[in-house]
Amino acid sequence: MPDRQWRNFYGRTRGKTLRPLQRERLEGLLPRLTLGGVTREENPGREVLDVSALDGPLWLEIGFGGGEHLVHMAKAYPDVTLIGAEPFVNGIAQFLGKLEAEGVGNVRVHPGDARDLLEVLPAGCLDKAFLNYPDPWPKARHHRRRFVTPEPLRLLARAMAPGAELRVATDIEDYVRQTLEEVPPAGFALERGPTDEAWPDWTRTRYEAKALREGRSPHYMTFRRL
Ligand SMILES: C[S@@+](CC[C@H](N)C(=O)[O-])C[C@H]1O[C@@H](n2cnc3c(N)ncnc32)[C@H](O)[C@@H]1O
Repeated sequence: MPDRQWRNFYGRTRGKTLRPLQRERLEGLLPRLTLGGVTREENPGREVLDVSALDGPLWLEIGFGGGEHLVHMAKAYPDVTLIGAEPFVNGIAQFLGKLEAEGVGNVRVHPGDARDLLEVLPAGCLDKAFLNYPDPWPKARHHRRRFVTPEPLRLLARAMAPGAELRVATDIEDYVRQTLEEVPPAGFALERGPTDEAWPDWTRTRYEAKALREGRSPHYMTFRRL
């Protein structure tokens, strides 16, 4: 049984009005990529998802934004199934445009909160997870909304296989501090970083480009699930 019936999501789920083509992709393409049985409406008993139809190792990107990294990784690793979770509809619409342009097929989506997905994934099914530029929630009283807090990390750790890799990228020094503090007790060992040297297969995301324009620099960390 889930430990909570619902959870608060504090981020934005909608931005400016979508263009007709974006709406068309959300109505036509998104349902074909969406993992069923994740939301509480579809799966009130929180039954474990059957992921046996997904090919190859499963990798998860939490909060993929406009999908730059998700599409890039899917293209670079055609034998992997990349799963992306993102509740911001305008980001999902941008991602669908990129996916279509690149003709990439090995991506599945949960258009919602990653925590809901993690809760119903089979234990140990993920071989890699990416947390790229998570919402910083800069005010101290909002730090508990950050993804690197015990509840989301417990769900993530449960879904990751022993030895699986977790990558975290952030431009916020206090987020580095909290990541180093919170991630190891959730069952991970720090393997690399924090460093300003990106992974060899990294691609710059929209949020990273914005951070650099505004004078903030990237910090990359790699953890290994114990
Ligand atoms: C600062 S943006 C970064 C987007 C993208 N990763 C990038 O680097 O450009 C953080 C993103 O995480 C998403 N997000 C926040 N909480 C989330 C959650 N619980 N599950 C999934 N996505 C989440 C937000 O909607 C937002 O798009």
